[in-house]
Amino acid sequence: MGSYLITGGAGFIGANYVRHVLANTDHQVTVLDKLTYAASKASIDSLPADRVTFVQGDVCDADLVDRLVTDADVVVHFAAESHNDNSLNDPSPFIRTNLVGTYELLQAVRKHDTRYHHISTDEVYGDLELDDPERFSESTPYNPSSPYSASKAGSDLLVRAWVRSFGVQATISNCSNNYGPFQHVEKFIPRQITNLIDGIHPKLYGAGLNVRDWIHVDDHNSAVQAIVERGVIGETYLIGADGEMNNKSVVELILTLMGHPADSYDHVNDRPGHDMRYAIDSAKLRSDLGWAPAYTHFADGLAATIDWYRANEAWWRPMKAATEAKYAQAGQ
Ligand code: NAD
Ligand code: DAU
Repeated sequence: MGSYLITGGAGFIGANYVRHVLANTDHQVTVLDKLTYAASKASIDSLPADRVTFVQGDVCDADLVDRLVTDADVVVHFAAESHNDNSLNDPSPFIRTNLVGTYELLQAVRKHDTRYHHISTDEVYGDLELDDPERFSESTPYNPSSPYSASKAGSDLLVRAWVRSFGVQATISNCSNNYGPFQHVEKFIPRQITNLIDGIHPKLYGAGLNVRDWIHVDDHNSAVQAIVERGVIGETYLIGADGEMNNKSVVELILTLMGHPADSYDHVNDRPGHDMRYAIDSAKLRSDLGWAPAYTHFADGLAATIDWYRANEAWWRPMKAATEAKYAQAGQ
């Protein structure tokens, strides 16, 4: 039995990861989360108190981070400012949390010689043309587009430098777009599902031809666990489930699954600098660590996600009005 420190464990992917660790290992878990607007303590409140300890705090707080890392065997760092649209309105928390927060964690794991896994995104690679035959791989050069993706790229480079210069025992994963339960309603898929529950048309940025490579959050987290347990120190692994689809097709599928005409959506203002396409080649993860996704049919995972939002209105309702008010200001 070991002790995991999971940062950002009250956010979307982190909360699902805490559940994954509890269900699949006998480890103890400490969650460090600042409880920003993006968090929901309710996502982890029902978990067993004898296995999960919650600490409200900031990953930029060096003393707190050092104290928590002292007691940890493994650190898995999910905490971040994660939403591109917010980073275009105000980049400052992205620079602080994503860069300074990662720096503080790296200093602590360096001091205590603690195993560290860094959660990152495919957005560090920039975007691809729609007809590009290549997908992102571990050797694709970094070329981030937004303040969010630039801050994540910077945090990845800090990790690489701490591995090379100080021998920190770290791995990095860069994953594509996640969907599933407990995702904040600011994000594309839950926004459209909850709009439809509220009788509002889904909102498509621009023409809706941008492509994302969708993966169920449980598949992201099973890959993270494979890397934590069997990954080679210093290595980067790309995580993806061959789920490329353009936004228009995703909206049409949500509408159909929820019993509406497939064309009953609105076009709204596009995102400035909007990345056209992300696509992941996860061959290294699959061949080296034997990982494979469990959700191979996007429509099935999406239908289960729609059921979850229908059944858990009490979870998302408190965040819906403020989120839509922010989008309304941007004409989105
Ligand atoms: P999220 O916004 O849902 O959750 C982020 C969590 O981090 C929240 O609980 C928030 O309170 C916490 N947090 C923010 N600032 C903090 C700080 N200074 N100190 C402590 N806690 C803080 O994000 P998510 O979608 O779950 O993403 C988690 C991680 O996965 C991020 O690193 C993100 O870059 C990465 N990622 C996300 C996706 C995706 O599709 N959502 C894909 C690939 C990688
Ligand atoms: O690729 C991984 C990244 O995926 C993660 O690093 C980010 O944390 C995560 O937020 C996500 O980034 P995106 O910007 O791709 O996700 P978002 O859900 O904001 O948007 C998905 C696509 O849908 C994108 O092309 C913009 C579009 N969109 C979004 C919203 C909210 C719409 O068309 N309408 C919308 O209302």
